[in-house]
Amino acid sequence: MFEEVRNFIAEADAFNPAGREELEQFRLRFLGKKGILGGLFSKLKEVTPDQRKEYGLLVNELKQKAEQKLESFRDAFESAKEATVKKDLTLPADPVHTGSHHPLSIIRSRIIEIFSRIGFNVSDGPEIEDDWHNFSALNFPPEHPARDMQDTFFIDLDPDPAKYRGSLALRTHTSSVQVRVMENEKPPIRTICPGRVYRNEAISARAHCFFHQVEGFYIDEKVSFADLRQTLLYFAKEMFDEETKIRLRPSYFPFTEPSAEMDISCTFCHGKGCNICKYSGWVEILGCGMIDPAVLENCNIDPEQYSGYAFGMGIERITMLKFDVNDLRIFSENDVRFLRNFKGA
Ligand code: PHE
Repeated sequence: MFEEVRNFIAEADAFNPAGREELEQFRLRFLGKKGILGGLFSKLKEVTPDQRKEYGLLVNELKQKAEQKLESFRDAFESAKEATVKKDLTLPADPVHTGSHHPLSIIRSRIIEIFSRIGFNVSDGPEIEDDWHNFSALNFPPEHPARDMQDTFFIDLDPDPAKYRGSLALRTHTSSVQVRVMENEKPPIRTICPGRVYRNEAISARAHCFFHQVEGFYIDEKVSFADLRQTLLYFAKEMFDEETKIRLRPSYFPFTEPSAEMDISCTFCHGKGCNICKYSGWVEILGCGMIDPAVLENCNIDPEQYSGYAFGMGIERITMLKFDVNDLRIFSENDVRFLRNFKGA
């Protein structure tokens, strides 16, 4: 008798229905009107008085087990049913959120693409640079302000003299890559060097302690200023639009002679005058010039045989003009509301 009840308890314990049908069978078998429990309770009369209590407890245990099973599976099947009912298969799928390129990456890629069409390849160099590559080889005199703590982040480390020439600093311009390439390659060289540069400046809407540049240079026999001008005109028209004009103003850089700064006709007002170009009709975008023969010599290139031009531009500056951004700081704030604007660009 007891054995029979224990077997039913084991059966109820092991019960694991696959669906509502099976659960209903279980309910009828154990808890239905003519079910097992009814039968067992009615057998109570037949049990001897000294065993009645124990028997009653056991049958009660079976009853509880059966009810618990029923309840827990009913809940599970119920919520599964709700879930299937709620799913409307005609609804569009949840959107997959794709990322977007950073505006500076978009413009860097565009610059690389434009120059690669006219034969420039891409070169790279370290952001931690020695004095030779960042300054000395480029003709910076010892008293030049860029060599001052106020302008440059120096690194307080004694570099391995076998690897580095002079003290270490975070490079202040990508012209350092120009030196590295010239030291390692033979002309003709036609390359651009995009990268991050660092300057010890107070952060504002127009200046940051780090930003991005693209240096470009071409060295060959008989490279002239006219080649430089034509290359830059081509770049300006491709980067902005066919109507864009350029203007070269005399300037000074230690490593180029002659040197110039290049303006483009204002892309907003097309030369009429607006607050972007400060009513001049022109905006400055890069520095350039003919590589100083002393620099070629520093890098073991014979200035009697070869000449070259170089130019350098800030990627932030071009990006601000292209996308009408007026605060440099927004590029490094990682605000997704800003970055989302460049999806698909
Ligand atoms: N390196 C210069 C700068 O950082 C830009 C430049 C590059 C000028 C090449 C002339 C030639 O301002």
